[in-house]
Amino acid sequence: MPDRQNGARRNKTENDITAEVLARFSGTPDPRLRDIMLSLISHLHAFVKDVKLTEAEWFQAIEILTEAGKMCSDKRQEFILFSDTLGVSMVVDLLDHRKPDGATESTVFGPFHRLGAPDMPMGGNIAHRDRTGTPALVRGRVLDLDGKPVANALLDVWQTQSNGLYDAQDANPNELHMRGKFRSDAEGRYLIRTVLPVNYPIPSDGPVGRMLKATGRHPWRPAHIHFVVSAEGYEPVTTHIFDRTDEYLQSDAVFAVKDSLICDFAKHEKPDAEASRLGIAGPFYTAEFDFHLTPATTAQTTVMDAQQRLAALGARG
Ligand code: BEZ
Ligand code: FE
Repeated sequence: MPDRQNGARRNKTENDITAEVLARFSGTPDPRLRDIMLSLISHLHAFVKDVKLTEAEWFQAIEILTEAGKMCSDKRQEFILFSDTLGVSMVVDLLDHRKPDGATESTVFGPFHRLGAPDMPMGGNIAHRDRTGTPALVRGRVLDLDGKPVANALLDVWQTQSNGLYDAQDANPNELHMRGKFRSDAEGRYLIRTVLPVNYPIPSDGPVGRMLKATGRHPWRPAHIHFVVSAEGYEPVTTHIFDRTDEYLQSDAVFAVKDSLICDFAKHEKPDAEASRLGIAGPFYTAEFDFHLTPATTAQTTVMDAQQRLAALGARG
């Protein structure tokens, strides 16, 4: 009544609504959740106001998220693809795994890791079923920040086949291929037999693919090999090595390239003694890459970090 009497009644504004929502969430008991919710609401409301989102556009967004949810299974994670292609995965990774200079930089985990990769000996072949790729030997050392060898480090390795597909995307999706777990020796050395990595498009037959197309972006990732390197007493590092000659290094669909992870794959026309010993007959490639691990902040992080991540991503055993 008073408003109508003095004629001062004003309509509710969008900023009134934001203030009311913030006030309602400000009683969140957990302080971290409170911070996250208040910031999320502030930014989300600011975004909607900034672009003057229409109701039709908001419903379109809801439809896209619904479709993404329906596409998710134990073999497909459309929300990780959204996170990766929007660059969010890389920002989160940087904030949560900041490395001192000299430590191997981390990069996206991606949706194609699988639990249960076989243990492999030094020089073991992860590409034993690949008939079309060119053999490649990847070798190097696992070292600490002072350059001292880290013995018995675990290198969990995965890669696409030479057809550009991960095992889970191919004809026998339940069979593990192009994966292995290697251990460094007393000098920190490791040796992996594989095939030359190829560039490949991320899955683009869903809403992420449509977003890429609508925004004039391609879905290609530069050729790479994935690693999670861990050792007792050190922070695990999730990373890739990239082929320096790849045409997509500057435009990786998921923004995962860092200069320090680019590596030379050198071609050799004839096998040397080591390649012959490993059964390589023709031309092959070699790449050398040393991993530098940071000391663990607590004894628990070594185990918890890797396992929690896998559990959260719903990786398969
Ligand atoms: C991958 O390299 O396996 C990958 C990373 C992010 C999105 C899709 C694939
Ligand atoms: Fe990959």
